[in-house]
Amino acid sequence: MALASDSRHGMWSSRWLFVLAAAGSAVGLGNIWKFPYITGENGGGAFVLIYLVCVALVGIPIMMSEVMMGRQGRSSPIHTMRKLTDDANRSRRWTFIGWMGVIAGFLILSYYAVIAGWALKYIWITASGTFEAATPDLASSTFNEFLTDPLQLIGFQTLFMVLTIWIVGRGVSKGLETAIRWFMPLLFVLLIVLLGYSINSGGFAQGWAFMFDLKFDQVTPETWLIAMGQAFFTLSLGMGTMMAYGAYVPQSAGIGSTVVTIALLDTAVAVSAGLAIFPIVFANGLEPGQGPGLMFVTVPLAFGQLPLGAVFGTVFFVLVSFAAITSAISLTEPALAYLVEEYNAKRQRVAISLGVMCWALGLGTVLSFNVWSDFYIVGGLTFFDFVDYVSQNVMLPLGGLLIALFAVWALPHAVREKQLGLKPGALNVSWKLVGGVIAPVGVLLVFIYSVLPVLRSLYENVVALMG
Ligand code: PHE
Repeated sequence: MALASDSRHGMWSSRWLFVLAAAGSAVGLGNIWKFPYITGENGGGAFVLIYLVCVALVGIPIMMSEVMMGRQGRSSPIHTMRKLTDDANRSRRWTFIGWMGVIAGFLILSYYAVIAGWALKYIWITASGTFEAATPDLASSTFNEFLTDPLQLIGFQTLFMVLTIWIVGRGVSKGLETAIRWFMPLLFVLLIVLLGYSINSGGFAQGWAFMFDLKFDQVTPETWLIAMGQAFFTLSLGMGTMMAYGAYVPQSAGIGSTVVTIALLDTAVAVSAGLAIFPIVFANGLEPGQGPGLMFVTVPLAFGQLPLGAVFGTVFFVLVSFAAITSAISLTEPALAYLVEEYNAKRQRVAISLGVMCWALGLGTVLSFNVWSDFYIVGGLTFFDFVDYVSQNVMLPLGGLLIALFAVWALPHAVREKQLGLKPGALNVSWKLVGGVIAPVGVLLVFIYSVLPVLRSLYENVVALMG
């Protein structure tokens, strides 16, 4: 029975469904595509450790704040922020958090759909045996030819977008929950199958050493920047996704333990993805530091050299696609919920309009890999790089920073006590210290470090233009 305090969009049917939904949002291309390749590029073990520190000290408190704020507001991030600021007699300017989240989600989804489309395409080509006994040249030319064919890219981007919009249009319980109930358990099973396969590939010890041997000589300030950015992206933080999902959490669920479970699941998947990928890469004498092409060139090539590689390679890309779709649906939720509330509109209609606009913006990303590959928005950033940079390196950290500050210093204590069960005392003080000081200062430092070079390059461009 719906309670007066429930969200109008529906509610998760249990605490576990929320855990799965939030883990579904968190586990995505960030874990399976990005985490292994940036670990590869940043030297392995020490990077993994720094990343874990960022998750624990910054990720977990910010996720707790988002879920808590969402459950208190019970609506889209924009309306939640309006309610929270009104109730607490704070400036409505804080609603900026909600607006930025809506826009960031839209920007991220626009390119996320393009890359997820690549995974869909790779299910197909891996299954058809393209990579069986393939040479490195064949693997990279297959990928490059695909990237230089805008029509194909658009075809797969469209397919992914249609699937996403179809699911979200059906609503929280019929659409989101149904997809999550199916995809998440399957994802875990597929990952375990792949891990078993990689343990037997002959390169496991080397893969393990690569992920866990601490090589601190490779750590630079940049490593922290990349690790922090990754922690935000992979935990879906800083843009209101967890706030939107938090609005559907039953009042009885404990937020602290739930959030820790979600972060552990997400980290376990990222580490397992690394442990599934690197051993087969090493077993074939390939390089781990291949960058974004790791998943689309090195991994298919590696599978192609192993017995039953076509089968397990296909399993791998099915896994990536499931992970991507449960994240994509969460990227739409802040905007979708807001538009439904604001205009009292039908969810399905809003979903379609939003999907079409996002798809259109995604065409810019498609073209960045071919027709527009030499067209730079600023300082060597293509359209895709630019959208990725602004959303991930600017909007998510800024959103996270404001969320942590708001949750700890602007919300009345009564709200924290009601939502987190925090009574005045030692626990409350440590929460204030971590969530209100350590996390914001950490984010701020990293943020300044990441934005300064771009601002400098912009400034130099302007000076050069003005002669
Ligand atoms: N966490 C997702 C991933 O790792 C991406 C994402 C970011 C989803 C922000 C929602 C919000 O792929």
